[in-house]
Amino acid sequence: MARVLVTGSADGLGMMAARSLVDDGHEVTVHARNDERRRDASLALPGAANVVVGDLSSIAETISVADQANALGRFDAIIHNAAIGNRERGRLETSDGLAAIFAVNVLAPYLLTALITPPSRLIYLSSGLHRSGNPDLSDLQWLKRPWDGSQAYSDSKLFDVVLAFALAKRWPETLSNALEPGWVATKMGGPNAPDDLALGAVTQSWLAVSDDPSAAVSGAYFFHQQRRATHPAASDQSIQDGLLAACAALSGVELP
Ligand SMILES: NC(=O)c1ccc[n+]([C@@H]2O[C@H](COP(=O)([O-])OP(=O)(O)OC[C@H]3O[C@@H](n4cnc5c(N)ncnc54)[C@H](OP(=O)(O)O)[C@@H]3O)[C@@H](O)[C@H]2O)c1
Repeated sequence: MARVLVTGSADGLGMMAARSLVDDGHEVTVHARNDERRRDASLALPGAANVVVGDLSSIAETISVADQANALGRFDAIIHNAAIGNRERGRLETSDGLAAIFAVNVLAPYLLTALITPPSRLIYLSSGLHRSGNPDLSDLQWLKRPWDGSQAYSDSKLFDVVLAFALAKRWPETLSNALEPGWVATKMGGPNAPDDLALGAVTQSWLAVSDDPSAAVSGAYFFHQQRRATHPAASDQSIQDGLLAACAALSGVELP
C-alpha cells in the first residue's frame, strides 16, 4: 500500500488515477480547488483517505495545499496532474500578477515540489504538445509577446518535463518522471478527443506505485508505459537551472 497525493483530482485524469489507486488498495489523498469541488471529489471518490483544498492559481493557496499535505505525513508518491488547457482567448492574470497558465501548470507544481516533504516518486503530467513548446525563459508571463493560448499551453507542458528532469538530477533519492496521457476526452481534451480515455490515467498510476523495474527509473518520459523522446530542452542544464531560478524568484520559495 502506497500513500499517494494526486493534484486536480476532482475531475478528469486526476480523478481517474485517484480512483484506480483507491481500487488497488492504496491510501489516496485527493486535491480540489475549493470547498464545492471538495464535496464533489468526496462524493465521487468515497474511498479517498483525505482531501486537500486550494486554488493552484494562487501562490498563497498553493502554499496552504503544501501545508495541508505535510500535516498528513510523508507521501510515497505525488502525481502533479492539475492544469488548465489552451482555450484561454486572452492572457488571464492571477491575483499574484502572473499568467494563469504558467501559475497553475508550472509554478504550482514547482511550489508543491519545493514545499512538500520529498516523496519517493514524483510524477508530472505533460503533453505531446510539449514538443512544440518554446524553452525561452525571457517572457514566461507573456508580457512582451502577443497572447497565444496554444503556445502558452505547449510551453507550460515543456516546463513540466523540465521540472521533472531537473528534480531527477537534484534529488537522486527520488524517482522523478513525466508523461503524456494522449489526447483524451476529459473537460480539457474535449468530447472529440481521439485517444483511449481509460489508458490516459494508467501510466501515472503505474509510475506512482508499480514495482515493475521499468517504472522504477528517474528522469524519463513516458507515453502508455513506454519511454518516449522529449523536446531536447528538457534535458538542458541551463534551462533547468533557469526555470528553477525563475520559479524561486516569482514565488520567494527556493527548492531545498
Ligand atoms: N485531456 C487531454 O487530452 C490531455 C492531453 C495531454 C495532457 N493532459 C494533461 O493531463 C492533466 C489532466 O488533464 P485533464 O484532461 O484531466 O483535465 P481536466 O479534466 O480539465 O482536469 C484538470 C484538473 O485540474 C484542476 N485544476 C485546474 N485548475 C486548477 C486550479 N487553479 N486549482 C486547483 N485545481 C485546478 C481541475 O479542477 P476543476 O475540476 O475544479 O476545474 C481538474 O480537477 C493535465 O496536466 C493536462 O495538461 C491532458
